[in-house]
Formats: sequence, structure tokens, C-alpha cells
Amino acid sequence: MKLCDMHVHTASSPDAEIPASELVRMASELSVGTVGFVAHVDFHPSDYCYGGFSEPDYMKELDLAESAGVRVLRGLEVGEPHLFMEKAESLFTRSRYDFVTGALHWTEDGLIIDEKPFLQGNVLEIVEKYYTDTLKIVKQSPINILAHMGIFRRGMARAGLVVDFDETLLFPSLMQEILQTMIRRRIALEVNTSGLRRPEKTTYPSSSVLRLYFKLGGRMVTVGSDTHRSEHVFFGLGSGHSLLKSCEFNNYGYFLKGEYVNTPLLCN
Ligand SMILES: [Fe+2]
Repeated sequence: MKLCDMHVHTASSPDAEIPASELVRMASELSVGTVGFVAHVDFHPSDYCYGGFSEPDYMKELDLAESAGVRVLRGLEVGEPHLFMEKAESLFTRSRYDFVTGALHWTEDGLIIDEKPFLQGNVLEIVEKYYTDTLKIVKQSPINILAHMGIFRRGMARAGLVVDFDETLLFPSLMQEILQTMIRRRIALEVNTSGLRRPEKTTYPSSSVLRLYFKLGGRMVTVGSDTHRSEHVFFGLGSGHSLLKSCEFNNYGYFLKGEYVNTPLLCN
């Protein structure tokens, strides 16, 4: 059985380097049978990818990547969809995509993958505000997947802080409300493995969140490497599967034309 990576950026994203056709070629060599491509659609004025999305260019790139051996899924990563989804939707035609992910990179504290907010503010308040905005996203936004929940640990690690706290214990009702809302609205929870290649050495979200999601009845999960460059390509997918198994999941999935497709986790 082949792996599925649901978070792969192509050269169409300003912060990524590899053309989709090249990524598909690499997938066929690395037992990755399904690639969920995403392009950044960002409207926060200070974001590096602000104004960088062109649907015609992205579609052309994905058309060139279509291949007999690898399933190509067309996706988007919309930044702060609770604030910018309407603007984003003016740039794309939903029916052309298999899935849309929502991502939170900016809060009122700034860019939370950066160390600055954590050097300047109260850490727990920053984290609580991150999850309060996450709740707004999952309540309001027409998304299929919530991307990299808990990615603020990247900023915390950059600030030299310890990241192994458990938000399900710190903010139990907030975390439960987020996950229950996702379950009710059929928004999948992404296990983003990019943190495994960074100093924080954890997935986003971490295992305690995955366990709570499972306990509440959540079963819609995707696994994504957040590939941007050659050294990231399909990184950590196997570890993502092992983590999900250890949290009692048997399946994960992908989205095809907006519908969640359940598939068994690969067991070692
Ligand atoms: Fe992201």
C-alpha cells in the first residue's frame, strides 16, 4: 500500500521551490501514491505569501503534473480563513479543488511561528488566543481540513521555550469545543509532520490533542509533511502513521472532490 501526503507546496507558493511535476516524479519513486497539493492563499498584509496566489498559474502547474501512477489532489491553504475567506474565494473556483485547508499563522500577537510574540508576551495568553482564533475558524469557515493545529510550538522553540505542555489540560473546555465543532462540521484534523524535522520534534498537533479528538469520536484525520523544499519532501509520513496508531486510530484519509475518503493506516 502507498502513502498519502496531504500537505505539499509547489513552486506556485512564493515560499516553496519544487514544481508539482517534479514532486509527482519523486512521489512515484518514494511509494507515495497520493499527493495533496496546496497553494498558499494569504491576505494578512505582512505575510510573506501575501498576493502570491494565481489560480491560472497553479492550475497550469497541476495540469502538467497529472500522471498515471500518482493521484494528484488539488488543494489550497487559506491563511486566517475566519478573517479572509471571502477575499480568498474571490480568487478561486471551489469546484476546481478537491479540498481547502484552513491555517492560522497570524493572531493579534503577530506571526506565531516566529519567536517574537513569545519573547515579548505572556506565553499562555498567546496560546489561549491562538486556540480562541482556531475555534472561530472551525465554527465559521468552509474548510475541509484544519492545518497544523499547534504550530505555535515552532515559535516557542525558536524563543528557547519548552514546548511539551498539554493544552488539553490547560484549556480543556476550549480544546473540547474546537474538536467537537470539527467533528460536527466534518472538518478533518491534519497531523502535520514538519515539526518532527525542527528543534521542537513534535507533530502539530501533538499526541494529547489527537487522543482527545479520538475520545470525542473524531475519526477524520489526514497526514501532511508541509513540504516546501527538497529536504522536506514527504518527510515524517511514516512517523505520522505510527503516532496515529499509538493514539488508537486505524484509518486516515484524503479528500477527493470535497469528499473524505477513508483508508487504512500503514502498520509496521
Ligand atoms: Fe501553514
